[in-house]
Amino acid sequence: MREGHAHVIHRHDYQAPTYWIATVDLTLDLDPAKTLVTSKLAVKRNANQPHGPLVLHGEELTPLRVMIDGEPVSFRQDGNELTIDAPDRDFELVIRNTCCPEKNTALSGLYTSGGGFFTQCEAEGFRRITYFLDRPDVMAVYTVTLRADKTKYPVLLSNGNLLEQGDLDGGKHFAKWHDPFPKPSYLFAVVAADLVAREQRIRTRSGKDHLLQVFVRRGDLDKTEHAMNSLIASIVWDEARFGLPLDLERFMIVGVSDFNMGAMENKGLNIFNTSALLASPATATDADFQRIEAIVAHEYFHNWTGNRVTCRDWFQLSLKEGLTVFRDREFSMDMAGSPSARAVQRIQQVRALRAVQFPEDAGSMAHPVRPDSYVEINNFYTATVYEKGAEVVGLYQTLLGREGFAKGLKLYFERHDGQAVTCDDFAQAMADANPGSQLASQLDLFKRWYSQPGTPRVTARGQYDAESHRYTLRLSQHNGKGELPQLIPVRMGLLGPEGQALPLQWEGELASHGSETVLLLEQTEQAFHFVNVLVEPTPSLLRGFSAPVLLDDGLSDAQLLNLLQHDSDAFNRWEASQRLALNRILGAVRAGQPLVLDAAYLDAMRAVLRHPQLDAAFKAEALRLPEAAYLAEQLQVVDPQAIHTAVEAAWTQIAQALRADWEWAFEAHQVSGGYRPSAEDAGRRALANLALSLLVRASTLSGEPVWPGKAYQRVKDADNMTERFGALAALVSAHAPLADAALAHFHAQFAHDALVIDKWFMLQARAPERDGKVFERVKKLLQHPDFTLKNPNRARSLLVQFCNFNPGAFHRADAGGYVLWADQVAHLDAINPQAASRLARAMDRWATLAEPFRGAAKVALQRLAERSTLSNDVREIVTKALE
Ligand code: ARG
Ligand code: ZN
Repeated sequence: MREGHAHVIHRHDYQAPTYWIATVDLTLDLDPAKTLVTSKLAVKRNANQPHGPLVLHGEELTPLRVMIDGEPVSFRQDGNELTIDAPDRDFELVIRNTCCPEKNTALSGLYTSGGGFFTQCEAEGFRRITYFLDRPDVMAVYTVTLRADKTKYPVLLSNGNLLEQGDLDGGKHFAKWHDPFPKPSYLFAVVAADLVAREQRIRTRSGKDHLLQVFVRRGDLDKTEHAMNSLIASIVWDEARFGLPLDLERFMIVGVSDFNMGAMENKGLNIFNTSALLASPATATDADFQRIEAIVAHEYFHNWTGNRVTCRDWFQLSLKEGLTVFRDREFSMDMAGSPSARAVQRIQQVRALRAVQFPEDAGSMAHPVRPDSYVEINNFYTATVYEKGAEVVGLYQTLLGREGFAKGLKLYFERHDGQAVTCDDFAQAMADANPGSQLASQLDLFKRWYSQPGTPRVTARGQYDAESHRYTLRLSQHNGKGELPQLIPVRMGLLGPEGQALPLQWEGELASHGSETVLLLEQTEQAFHFVNVLVEPTPSLLRGFSAPVLLDDGLSDAQLLNLLQHDSDAFNRWEASQRLALNRILGAVRAGQPLVLDAAYLDAMRAVLRHPQLDAAFKAEALRLPEAAYLAEQLQVVDPQAIHTAVEAAWTQIAQALRADWEWAFEAHQVSGGYRPSAEDAGRRALANLALSLLVRASTLSGEPVWPGKAYQRVKDADNMTERFGALAALVSAHAPLADAALAHFHAQFAHDALVIDKWFMLQARAPERDGKVFERVKKLLQHPDFTLKNPNRARSLLVQFCNFNPGAFHRADAGGYVLWADQVAHLDAINPQAASRLARAMDRWATLAEPFRGAAKVALQRLAERSTLSNDVREIVTKALE
């Protein structure tokens, strides 16, 4: 409904449907211009609801006829609903309709891409294929017949098992698929295209044989090995860690280059954005390899957490997404191996959480992990539902331990396999499987994590009494207006002045309980008393980021340096490095003074870089500065240019002061031998890339040619994309004179590879601004022959990267960034509302901006809001921003 009034859907209005659908027998005559759909449904009266008409969802469809038990019946079409006066009993409903895949640029429902047919049905895409009760609590068994031209579409796929296939007249062929598992319509999928498959047969622990297939376009087969390996590793892991086996004879993954998200967990037929699937050393970076492993695992894990047990309604989205992100994170950490590599994973999760979810939770789109209302559900596939949701699932594991958590999950499946349930059902299973636990006794308190938006702020202050050897730690929490205290586990330890871990002994107890514990903050304020503390301690709080909160621990520089050097918790060592940088950058921004990094800080960073024991990957994380978005969240009034100037100054000083150390680091972390995407090699490459980028920066400023020359050489002859792209990024972000030549070389070399060209756009969109050059370049790139709004990856690479993730270039005193944003949101919205609405989110935090940004941002928002043709998706974002 493009121009209708915003219709708000509320969680409390949930009602079971008047009818259920037991089976779906679907036939699709696939044609790009007009696909004919015949749907035969076994409709069951839900006796628990009063009798009423059958109201089906349908969007952009043409109805041809409707029959009940073989008799044509009349129907009314009203907007996106089709109403049928259905009898008060079970019956068979047959619907014939058409849809137009080639005009479907929204990429929701059935659409064409690269000459093939693909579907995306989550959340509400099935209604764009045929009329249906398109809601996740309606679960049916599907049989699907596909008919299409055999030459153009040699591969015909749907969920489940292939029953039959064969030739038809007129150069056509057919395939008939049956999925024995009842599923909601959002898990339905169809693919008809000219594809080839990498295949692997495996036998799982239970002794069952399975066929794994990864389908891609001809020519991409050599880029599927990593995905296949990741899939096999995921299958093995889920069985070993949680006892969850693969329940299908055939498990298929298909890659498509036009796709709104990363990937989709359709039962037995996952569909992936090629960016989340294809990798080769020559075309993908270490980060790509890592992301692909995580997404393949994520979609596979959905087979249990999402598909076997699904969501009753879309407010419960985090039931499957938070849980499945938690599971893919656990998997990635187990795959990474060493404790240090696990810590690096955790660091990267928290960096992303702070840069995206914290701003979201403080901005115009703030919502609880389980939202209470929405206009457009596609707007709620958010960092809060996914990443904060995963943090909340992690809290269960922190409270219950690994075994208690596994018991809870087991009970969850015993109770709810085959059902569509709620977040409350999950919490209840966790509590019931662990009677006597803190969780069980405080379940209501715990569940505030689902119902309250906002990031809790925790303040910690310690008091040491040297005479009595008592140490008192006072913790308090502050949540948003009207919000109640939450249950916050604070993992912690105490360090002595030489960094030694101190034994922890509670008041009234005779002995210590080791050197680490978890404090449970459950009230607004609490004090914790430690005794026999022989020296004044430095508290190490929130180890491993044990809860998604903002912590103010008031630690001095000296205490942070102590933690940075000695904490047994690698996460908190990293956190100390970030805090040291953050304090300095914010200090300069608040004072309106140029940033000057002191020797103590620079020496500490040099010590990290030169440290003989720390891993390279950890060093790279500790030496990286906090994200601009996270820095902005610490300020009441945000001047993005002031932050940008301070961050740039910090990088330059780190580059110049540690110049010799960076030279050493670059040489010492070269990886020899063939490319392997292992955590260890990736860590070395990450540190070498950081070193190169700082060396190019320092050299460019002083006009020295050697390092930029080396970087340019690397762009030309590196044998893997991580090093090649790192070198290109070094030149571009330093605005080195060789950057343009390097960009041209890179483009020419990969002109045929869309995913690499996406990187080329992204790099330029994300470059640190210098005298408006980045903005000018982005405007020029909008006119580049390779640029198109029709491909979501390409649109994101340039526009989302620039508007949402390059604050220093986007926020301009002349409002040029905002004008560009409003124009492009409008253009994109006419093509693909879901993609446009992601871009629209660049203005979430406009209200905290300093002038002149704030006023100009408001004007741009208002201008966009005035347009009469906005989609529901974009309208919801813009309206909320202006509220
Ligand atoms: N369930 C998919 C995943 O997280 C994402 C689908 C998102 N779909 C959407 N319309 N926003 O794996
Ligand atoms: Zn998911």
